[in-house]
Amino acid sequence: AKLKLAVVVGSNRTGSINLKLAKALVGLAGDRVDARFIQIDDLPLYNMDLEGSRPEAVNRFTSDVAACDAVLMVTPEHNRSIPAVLKNAIDWGSKPMDKNVWRGKATAITGTSPGAIGTAVGQQHLRQIMGILGGLVMGGEAYIAFKPDLIADDGSIAIDDTKAFLQTYMDNFLNVAEKLSA
Ligand code: FNR
Repeated sequence: AKLKLAVVVGSNRTGSINLKLAKALVGLAGDRVDARFIQIDDLPLYNMDLEGSRPEAVNRFTSDVAACDAVLMVTPEHNRSIPAVLKNAIDWGSKPMDKNVWRGKATAITGTSPGAIGTAVGQQHLRQIMGILGGLVMGGEAYIAFKPDLIADDGSIAIDDTKAFLQTYMDNFLNVAEKLSA
């Protein structure tokens, strides 16, 4: 069966450059994946008081992620860490501990920002968080410094060497994710 890929974008901004990058990466994955973009912008702030009767949006979110074999996270960096909206979603998914949706899933982490180091510091934090949650975080790295001409009008990566780099990145990730889910 085709790999079911949860795509989690760490931005709730309509014009998000990370959403654009995530769509381009799904394009590079082609028909190897059945991609599901996971909604996180309607999750309430995590509150343990809500455990026991979790809000509907939270249950939708956790079952969407749980139904997938692997996770692709594409996130901006906020103040040299990950955006609060993403951390909030990760926290919901991590509880209760015996239903942690991140455990055992092949997880690729990337992201883009206009800054020169392209989310590198935020990605280190995310790598640590997903690792302690039992995610099988891919080695390698992809820090994408966003330039206005990076993504073409049709949504594909417009810069050839970046496209080739990201194709290899996705191929490596999917090779591992397919093995793990076999
Ligand atoms: C930023 N931005 C940013 N960029 C970066 O490279 N390193 C950083 O630490 C930060 N910090 C930061 C904090 C906050 C609160 C905001 C709102 C923004 C800029 C950020 O990369 C830029 O807004 C991107 O466009 C965000 O990605 P999306 O939302 O377009 O996907």
